[in-house]
Amino acid sequence: MPDTHVVVLAAGQGTRMKSDLPKVLHEIAGRPLIEHVIKTAASIKPATVAVVVGHMANRVRERLARYDLKFAVQEPQLGTAHALQQVEPLLAGQTGTLVLLSGDVPLLSAQTLGRLIETHSGAKAAATVVTATVDRPYGYGRIVRADGRIARIVEERDASPAERQIKEINSGIYAFDLAPLFDALRSIASQNAQGEFYLTDLVAIYRRRKLPVETLMVENVEEIRGINSRTELAEVSRIVRQTKNEELMAAGVTLIDPATTYIEPDVEIGRDTVIHPGVIIEGQTRIGSACEIQGHVRIVDSEIGNRVNVNNFCLIVGARVADGVAIGPFAHLRPETVVGENARVGNFVELKKTTLGPGSKANHLAYLGDTTVGANVNIGAGTITCNYDGVKKHQTVIEDGAFVGSDSQLIAPVTVGKGAYIGTGTTVREDVPAGALAVSAGKQRNLEGWVARKKGTPERT
Ligand code: UD1
Ligand code: CA
Repeated sequence: MPDTHVVVLAAGQGTRMKSDLPKVLHEIAGRPLIEHVIKTAASIKPATVAVVVGHMANRVRERLARYDLKFAVQEPQLGTAHALQQVEPLLAGQTGTLVLLSGDVPLLSAQTLGRLIETHSGAKAAATVVTATVDRPYGYGRIVRADGRIARIVEERDASPAERQIKEINSGIYAFDLAPLFDALRSIASQNAQGEFYLTDLVAIYRRRKLPVETLMVENVEEIRGINSRTELAEVSRIVRQTKNEELMAAGVTLIDPATTYIEPDVEIGRDTVIHPGVIIEGQTRIGSACEIQGHVRIVDSEIGNRVNVNNFCLIVGARVADGVAIGPFAHLRPETVVGENARVGNFVELKKTTLGPGSKANHLAYLGDTTVGANVNIGAGTITCNYDGVKKHQTVIEDGAFVGSDSQLIAPVTVGKGAYIGTGTTVREDVPAGALAVSAGKQRNLEGWVARKKGTPERT
């Protein structure tokens, strides 16, 4: 197989987005549009992936820093042919196939990309254009055929009324043989309605030069949808969600109301897990089987075991939760939290960088930060670890079987030993030995008649 080089066009401003952000950095399913394209491009194992940037070039480059990419800058942006010319120095001396993708067409499948290369190399074509037949071709370049073969592409603004009736459109995705390409690009002119150098003019030029041009028509029109406006961004997002939801349901996950369920593409969920309405699951999240995720829970980059019950209105970010755990309602698990098997995290409990051991419970109103809690520990209502002294964070350790009475403060760094008891309302400033009881509150005094004396009213009996 000859080498394949991918070029992604991403220099345009995307005026219709009305945004300070370059269009290709707007997100679908938690990822910039262009990242979807780059991930799909990787599926054909290209020798090079080059991105043509222009408008806010640095923002785009920075956002893609973790990929192995080459960049060409197009300044000013004079059209798609001019954009492609910018990669000529990057591909100097290279042969094989150049696959051209658009940074704003995020749903193209790896399968279609594979078919494009097969069609192109199978036909030994100089160019292969991916096309589709759509009901509403408005705005797209139209495929003009003669004797069934593609003759040229005409842009909406340059098309005659008859040409505007054509329903076969140009997707803006192509494969090119590198050999004649850059030379031919130089013969494209800008005498058209937009005064731009249209890449689409290459088709007519190739036909004139008797170079073979092929087409590949995609069945699933959604794959080649370009995003030009916020409305299209929302529409394409919905398509992505629907696809994911259908995959999950086919794999045995119950979605009570798919229309209000937001699950990003990389999320994995085991069978017989039930997801209630309004749930958002993002990033690299894995959820086991037979879990129940109640309404309006958001889970981000977390690992949830099997048979876990997450009650309503919880936020879970960067946490690991073992099998059989119950969480919420209204719990907040922050990054680096680990919840052990069968543990309980109740309402208004916040955990940060905290490990809650197996079988331990923090059922109500607690903050545990930078804390290691052993197994079978009871954290009473209103327990707070004072982990921050205004300068540094400090660790709290609560060993197995300890019992922390309600409304206690643990001033870190501090350790509560195995099986120790903390009396209700204790401020723990020093380590508590295993098996000890710690109390800090003084003996209670009742001042009889104090209220009446204070207010100067007669005593009530
Ligand atoms: C282009 C095609 C049209 C096709 C449509 C599919 C041309 C002339 N027209 O039209 O036939 O139906 O795509 O979506 O090619 N870009 C640059 N530099 C530029 C201009 C554009 O990098 O100077 C990039 C844009 O950032 C974008 C892509 O090229 O990623 C397509 O540009 P856009 O202006 O959206 O092209 P369309 O008018 O949609
Ligand atoms: Ca345009």
